[in-house]
Amino acid sequence: MSRVLVFDSGVGGLSIVQSIQEQAPNVTIDYAADSGFFPYGLKTDQELKERLPMLCAALVKEAQPDLLVLACNTASTLALDAVRECVDIPVVGTVPAIKPAAEHTETGVVGVLATPGTVRRQYLNNLEKEFASKVKVLRYGTAGLVELAERYVRDEVLSIDQFETAISPLFSKENGEDIDTIVLACTHFPLIKHQIQNACPKHVKKLIDSGEAIARQVIKRLKEEKPSNSSRNGRALLTGGRANKVAYSTVLEKFGFLRVDIIDL
Ligand code: DGL
Repeated sequence: MSRVLVFDSGVGGLSIVQSIQEQAPNVTIDYAADSGFFPYGLKTDQELKERLPMLCAALVKEAQPDLLVLACNTASTLALDAVRECVDIPVVGTVPAIKPAAEHTETGVVGVLATPGTVRRQYLNNLEKEFASKVKVLRYGTAGLVELAERYVRDEVLSIDQFETAISPLFSKENGEDIDTIVLACTHFPLIKHQIQNACPKHVKKLIDSGEAIARQVIKRLKEEKPSNSSRNGRALLTGGRANKVAYSTVLEKFGFLRVDIIDL
């Protein structure tokens, strides 16, 4: 059986876990959250560049997966190559779904919801240049929406107003009233897709994320690999000490991770 390690700063990568489970139920998944360093979207590029390669190498050493999924746009758009250099297994990254959104829009205006880190990336400029040169792309970075996703999966009662407040600046931008397609360019956001859709103005017809495409890529890459013999159930690894075990265990259990270990990194 193949083992995959899905990694994010917090609970966002669980949206990718769901997509992989749907398409590849036989793959064993371990989950790792850098909960001690969350949120990535508010960290400097330098901080993330220093931390990510070393952290991912240590997590891979601990979990021994056949493949690593960097289930975080903020990390992938900055350090995917550096992480690949530090591990000896394939790494699947998370790329904002600019291409399908540019193909889908009818008004020619696409909105991108991401973290403050992701919206300033050169990586995003390159994607736009390559796949969206004929459409207008409006970006908005929101750490508030990430926070709402973290609270939602912990069963906090949240109002539609909170979601509206978090995303409304996207629609106040020039041409914002013409956005018909939105890219959910943060893995936390598919977890609150319904709430985001409800909080969007009526002219928004479609929200697109990368979950399905990543799951397809995982399956393709695993076929090329020799599966490991390890048969233990998936577990979750967390940074940041015991307090995070308390904060995460119930959520992780809901997604099937019954064993949660703290890793000192
Ligand atoms: N889930 C992460 C992403 O896809 C980032 C959330 C955060 O730590 O700010 O970008």
